[in-house]
Amino acid sequence: MPKGHFITFEGGEGAGKSTQIRLLADRLEAEGHDVVVSREPGGSPGGEAVRHVLLSGAAEPFGPAMEAMLFAAARSDHVEQVIRPAIESGKIVLCDRFLDSSRVYQGVSGRLDKAFMSALEGVAINGMMPDLTIILDLDPAEGMRRAAARRGSQDADRYEKENLALHEERREAYIDIARAEPARCVIVDAARDQTDVADAVWTCVTKVIAPSNSLLQVADEL
Ligand code: TYD
Repeated sequence: MPKGHFITFEGGEGAGKSTQIRLLADRLEAEGHDVVVSREPGGSPGGEAVRHVLLSGAAEPFGPAMEAMLFAAARSDHVEQVIRPAIESGKIVLCDRFLDSSRVYQGVSGRLDKAFMSALEGVAINGMMPDLTIILDLDPAEGMRRAAARRGSQDADRYEKENLALHEERREAYIDIARAEPARCVIVDAARDQTDVADAVWTCVTKVIAPSNSLLQVADEL
């Protein structure tokens, strides 16, 4: 059985990750691929149990290191229970957020020590590095507007309540990651309409799932 592919989506609040994942999953399935859609925190029963603790804000008083360890615990369970078995059976896994969210939200925003973060990351992913990470880039003010419109009258979660400066800092942190890892990460301008964004995503994905291509050639085509 050929090895599958692991594709993650990253970006700030309201950048359209879940919409783009759905559109991509439909397109891949129409081409005959076996697709698993997942998300973090969560994605496995153990991960979903920890998700509630994190997003409700219950862990917040114990500090960013505690939260980082909980995200890592959830990620480890998700990797071993869901992602690795799917990849080993040749499927394409699309995941809404993964390790870069921890680098950005806990590492950068939480001001956590780099060596600590990198040790946690190693334990959590246990070698399961994404083949492709699509970073949906959007002005945070627009992202917050979209997230608020989507939420309607529901309460904002722990992360949606934070201020704009933090969101700006995270946007920069994602761009830094993409610059540092151009063979894995690509930045897609998410301010355009859905179908244009979906076409850009598709261009990247076809590069990665066709074995002779490389993401490094994609920037000129987006
Ligand atoms: P979610 O409701 O899934 O929102 P979004 O649509 O923004 O993905 O909330 C996930 C929140 O958890 C999001 O604000 C980012 C945060 N998060 C971290 O801080 N660290 C992590 O490692 C992950 C996976 C998510």
